Amino acid sequence: MPQEDEITLDMRVNGMTGDKKYYITSPIYYVNDVPHIGHAYTTLACDVIARFKRLDGFEVHFLTGTDEHGQKVEKSASAAGIHPQEFTDRVSKNFQDLAVSMNFSNDDFIRTTEKRHIIAAQAIWKKLKDNGHIYLGSYEGWYAVRDEAFYDESELTELEGGGKVAPSGAEVEWVEEPSYFFNLSEWQEPLLNFYQENPDFIAPKSRRNEVISFVKGGLRDLSISRTSFKWGVPVPDDTDHIMYVWLDALTNYITAVGYPVEDKSFSKWWPANLHMVGKDILRFHAVYWPAFLMGAGMDIHKRVFAHGWWTNEGKKISKSVGNIIEPNEIIETYGLDQVRYFLLREVPFGNDGDFSRRAMMNRINGDLANDLGNLCQRVLSMVNKNCGGKIPNYEEETIRDFPVFQTLKEAYSLLPKIREKIDKQAFHEALEEVWRIIRNANQTIDEAAPWSLKKTNPQGMENVLYTLMEVIRLFAIILQPFMPDASSKILDQLSVDLENRNFSFIGPPPNLDLLSEFALKPDTILPKPEGVFPRFLESSKQ
Ligand code: MSP
Repeated sequence: MPQEDEITLDMRVNGMTGDKKYYITSPIYYVNDVPHIGHAYTTLACDVIARFKRLDGFEVHFLTGTDEHGQKVEKSASAAGIHPQEFTDRVSKNFQDLAVSMNFSNDDFIRTTEKRHIIAAQAIWKKLKDNGHIYLGSYEGWYAVRDEAFYDESELTELEGGGKVAPSGAEVEWVEEPSYFFNLSEWQEPLLNFYQENPDFIAPKSRRNEVISFVKGGLRDLSISRTSFKWGVPVPDDTDHIMYVWLDALTNYITAVGYPVEDKSFSKWWPANLHMVGKDILRFHAVYWPAFLMGAGMDIHKRVFAHGWWTNEGKKISKSVGNIIEPNEIIETYGLDQVRYFLLREVPFGNDGDFSRRAMMNRINGDLANDLGNLCQRVLSMVNKNCGGKIPNYEEETIRDFPVFQTLKEAYSLLPKIREKIDKQAFHEALEEVWRIIRNANQTIDEAAPWSLKKTNPQGMENVLYTLMEVIRLFAIILQPFMPDASSKILDQLSVDLENRNFSFIGPPPNLDLLSEFALKPDTILPKPEGVFPRFLESSKQ
C-alpha cells in the first residue's frame, strides 16, 4: 500500500484506496417527458463505468431514478387531467422500462415521491435550519418552470414579440411570494477553496473554469421554498411551503444510501465517487449541492462530470419541433449494442454531438461489422474448418515466431490503459485503444495468411489462429461494459466459462513473452461460429 501522502487525488476520486468501492449516480429524470436519447445517454455512461468497476473487482452502487415533484410535473399532470401521483407513477414506469431496454445494471431506482426520500429531504432541511443556514424572507424575481430555476434579470433575453427567456431558451415568469432562503452567498469562499483543493472535482476542465468564474462573480442567497403550488415535499414545521424541487431532488443521492441514518452502511457509500450529469445541470451539482452538503456538515461527492448535448441531424432536439429520438425506436432499428457503442464512440465524451443515421450506419458497418465482426468471423470459421472445431493446439517453442504475437502482447497490456481512460470518463479514447488492437489483428491475419500456412506449415497455422483467438478473448472481456450482449456472445463462441470473464481473468503474464495462466485451453470444443455484427443495409430496415 502506498503511504497516505503518496496517494494521488485520482486514486481517491476513483475509489482505488482502501476497499474497492464505487458509488455512481445518474441525474434523476423529470417525469413530465417520455424518455429520449439524452436521458439514455447520461445513464448509459454511468452503466459502462458501473459494469467496468464491477468487472475490475469493485463493489459498486449504481443509482438512477426519477424526479417527481415541482411545478413542471404538477402542470403536466393537470394537463393530463390526473392527480400528480397517478401521473408520476405512470411516467416513472417509462424510465424504469428504459433501464431494461438499454440493459442498464443499476442497483437501485429512486423515486422522489417515495417515503424514504421525503424523510431524507425533510431531514437535510432541518439540519440546514438547525445549523443556521436557512431564513424566512420573500422572493421577487424570475423563474423558469421548464428549468425549475431562478434567474437574474441580467441573464435574460427579451423576445421580439414580448416576454423574456432564460439562457436555456426557457420562458420565465415573474414570481413574488414568501420564501425560505439558503445563505448561499456565504459559501463563495469555502466553495472556491474546495475547487482549488480538489482539482479533479469538476470535469471536463473547461466546465470547471466556467463554474469557478460563476462563483467568483458572487453568489446570491437561494430561494429554497415555494408557496404558489402544492406538489412537493412539505417544509418541516411550515406546511404553507414546499421545498424547492432542486434541494429535494439533489438529496436523492444521499437518501438512496440511507440518509438520515448516518451509520456504517451510509459511510460505506457516501461520499459518491461520481455524479454524472449533462452540462445544463452542472451548476446545481457543482455549486448548490456542495454548498448544501457543507451547510449540513457532510462530505462532498468526489467528482461531477458534465457531458455535452446531442442534436438530431444538426438540429436541437425538442418536443415542440417533434424531432425527439426515442431510444426504443433506434434500438429496434440498429440493435442495442450498436446504439450503446455509437453513443460512446461517436463523440468525445464531454463535447456536444450530432446524431445522424449516416454516422450510425458508418459506425455499424465500419467499426462493428468490418473490423470487429469480420475479425471474429474469419478466425472462428477458419478454426471451425481447419482445427476440427476445437481451440487450436499451439506449439510453445514457435508461437512467438509470428508477428501476430506482438498484437497479443499489446492486448495483454490493454487493461491499465482502458482503466485510466474510464477513470477520466474518456469513453471514446478507451474504445479507440481497443480498436487499435482489433485493426492490428485484422492486418496480421492478412500478413500471416493462415489459410496458406495450412499446407506449408500447419503448426504455424494453429499458432496464428490460437494467438488471434486469445486476442479476441482479451478484448471481448474488456468490451463487456460497453456491449454486454455482443461480448458475451463472442466469449460464448470461445467457450470461455461464465465465471472466468472478469478482468482478473485477463491475467497478464508476468513476462509478456508468455501466455496468461487463464489463456484459452487448447482442444476445448467450440460451438458453431455465428456472426456477431451483421452489416446494416439501409434498405433492410426503417
Ligand atoms: N430532474 C433534473 C435532474 C435532477 S438531478 C438531482 C433534470 N432532469 S431532465 O430529465 O431534464 O434531464 C436529465 C438529463 O438528461 C440531464 O443530464 C440532461 O443533460 C440530459 N439531457 C437532456 N437532453 C439532452 C440531449 N439532447 N443530449 C444529451 N443529454 C441531454 O434535469
